[in-house]
Amino acid sequence: MATIRTPEVETFGPLVPRGPMAPPRPGPGTAAKRLGVLPVPPLEWNKDVERETAHLYERVQAVVPPVEWPFFAPYVKAINEAKKTRNAVILAHNYQTPEIYNCVADFVGDSLQLAREATKTKAGIIVQAGVHFMAETSKLLNPDKVVLIPDLRAGCSLASSITGEDVRLLRERFPGVPIVTYVNTSADVKAESDICCTSSNAVQVVESFGVDKVIVLPDEYLARWVATQTNVKIIAWKGHCEVHERFTAEELRKYRESDPNVQILAHPECPPDVIAEADFTGSTSAMIRFVKERRPKKVVMVTECSMADNVQVETPGVEFVRPCNLCPHMKRITLPKILDSLVYLREEVEIDPAIAERARRAVERMIHLKS
Ligand code: 13P
Ligand code: SF4
Repeated sequence: MATIRTPEVETFGPLVPRGPMAPPRPGPGTAAKRLGVLPVPPLEWNKDVERETAHLYERVQAVVPPVEWPFFAPYVKAINEAKKTRNAVILAHNYQTPEIYNCVADFVGDSLQLAREATKTKAGIIVQAGVHFMAETSKLLNPDKVVLIPDLRAGCSLASSITGEDVRLLRERFPGVPIVTYVNTSADVKAESDICCTSSNAVQVVESFGVDKVIVLPDEYLARWVATQTNVKIIAWKGHCEVHERFTAEELRKYRESDPNVQILAHPECPPDVIAEADFTGSTSAMIRFVKERRPKKVVMVTECSMADNVQVETPGVEFVRPCNLCPHMKRITLPKILDSLVYLREEVEIDPAIAERARRAVERMIHLKS
C-alpha cells in the first residue's frame, strides 16, 4: 500500500450536479460529398474470411471466445480494407474492446500517446476509436484532415462537468493563477486554459510554471493526486469520472485480504482513499508498462474493464483479477460503427475556428513540454 501526503486542496464546482452534455451536432458532411461513399462490403462469415483473419484471431483468442469471432471477423476484414482505400488510420484508446484494440487499430495508447500520434500521421483521415474529447484533440492538431468519431454520443462525465464560462469565472476569481485543464474537456474549456495535461504528465505540467499555486480542472481526484506529488498548492474543480469514482477502498482491501501478494494498480481518476490502498498509481499506459516490465503473478487494474483484456493479450501468465467497471461512452464504439464511419465518412468532428485556435495552443504547449 502506498504512503501518501494529504495536502489541502481548495475545490470549486456547480452547486447542483450537471447532467451529461447534449451530444455535439453532426458536422456538415463535406468529406462524404468530396470523397464519396464506399460500396457496403459483404459481411458474411466464410472460409476465405476465416483464413484471412486467422492471424488476428490468434492474437485475441485468450479474450475473445471462438463463438464470437464469426461475428467480428467480417467487420475486421472490411475495416482493414476500407482503411487502405480511404488512406485512413484508426487511433484507439486503451479502453477499447480487444477486437478493436488488437485487430483494426493502427495506434493504441493513453490520451497523451494518441494526441502525439495524431501530430505524426500522414493519413488523410483519422478515425478515433475513443471518446469525443479525444477526437476533438486530434482535430485540433490536424485542422486540415478529416477526423471521424463513430458515435457522437461517446462523451465523458469529466468533459460534461465544466464549461468555458466556468473557467472564465475561475480566472476572474484567481487572477494570475495558471489554469491547467485535463484533456478530458471540450475545446471550449481548453480554449480558456493556459495548458492541457493528461494523467501521465499532470505533475510535470503543474510544476512547469514554477509558481506556488495552480488551478487544475476538472477532475477533483486527479487534482488531489497531483497535490500529493508536488509542493504546488492546487485549486480543483468537483468533476469526477463516472467509472473510477465507483471503486471503493473496501473493495481493494478485500482483494488484498484474499491474496496479500496481489499487485493493485489504480488510475489517478480514482478517489483518494482508493489510491491510498493501491501499490501503484498511473495513467493507463503507465499501468500497462508496470505489468509488462514487472510481470506480477496476480494483478488488479483499478480502471476501465477492457484494459485487463488488452494487457492480458500481451502478458500471458499474469493472472488478472477483474473488477468490471465499463465506460458507457467508450463502449459506444463498435466494429459496425467504425466500418460505417469509413464507408460514409461520419461523424465528422468540427470545431469553431475561433475556439480551435486558442484550444490548439493549450494542447500544443502540453505536447511540446520537454520531459
Ligand atoms: P489515460 O490518459 O490514462 O489513458 O486516461 C484517459 C481516460 O479517459 C481515463 O478514464
Ligand atoms: Fe471519461 Fe471516465 Fe469514460 Fe475516461 S473512463 S472517458 S474519464 S467517463
